[in-house]
Amino acid sequence: MRVRKRKNGDARKAACGELVLPFDKENLSEFALSEIYPDKKTFCIEIGCGKGAFITGMAQKHPDIGFFAVEKVSDVMVIAAEKIRDAEIQNVRFLNCDAVHLGKLFPKHCFHRIYLNFSDPWPKARHAKRRLTYHTMLESFKDLLAENGRIEFKTDNRDLFDFSLEEFPIAGYQMENITYDLHASEWAKDNIVTEYEANFSAKGFKINRLEAFLPK
Ligand SMILES: C[S@@+](CC[C@H](N)C(=O)[O-])C[C@H]1O[C@@H](n2cnc3c(N)ncnc32)[C@H](O)[C@@H]1O
Repeated sequence: MRVRKRKNGDARKAACGELVLPFDKENLSEFALSEIYPDKKTFCIEIGCGKGAFITGMAQKHPDIGFFAVEKVSDVMVIAAEKIRDAEIQNVRFLNCDAVHLGKLFPKHCFHRIYLNFSDPWPKARHAKRRLTYHTMLESFKDLLAENGRIEFKTDNRDLFDFSLEEFPIAGYQMENITYDLHASEWAKDNIVTEYEANFSAKGFKINRLEAFLPK
């Protein structure tokens, strides 16, 4: 997601206070979920949250769940964190880092859902390894998924979706609840629309969606 470099980015991030979890690439250690969310038992994470429409909607709909939102671009994450702060939503925490670090930051098998929404498609074949649905990245997410946990993935990009349909099985996942037109499907009623989703569906693009899980 492109956002013009903003002035006061660090100050705005600091003003979001404890909503933004500390991240030090040189000194990675596991978060204690019981300290972050003493009253929650279920945790979900969105990777690449952008400006935060999805995580805001999910957190409002599920106040019993502790959400985490990861975004590697600081100026984008700040916009999402300010949304949560201004709406006085209590059950979202942000992390400003790349997804590659998540295995070192969270306890094993702690997430009921991992949401990948409109992940960057990296259309050039030589950049395939950067896609969040490249099989090695999906393999790394296995450590994060709780028993019975699922990855929910949606994208307007049919090439990325078709690529992902091949990568999930390579990484050992099964898939179900697959649709090439989410908004016309049975999953539309529970769907929380992201910023990219609103934009692309307004332009007439169909939204692809799947759920992936690990066989027992
Ligand atoms: C195309 S945008 C979609 C944003 C939002 N999910 C939506 O649907 O509106 C993808 C977002 O994922 C972030 N992102 C991409 N790769 C990432 C990674 N490896 N770790 C963390 N964030 C990532 C980008 O910075 C960007 O903000």
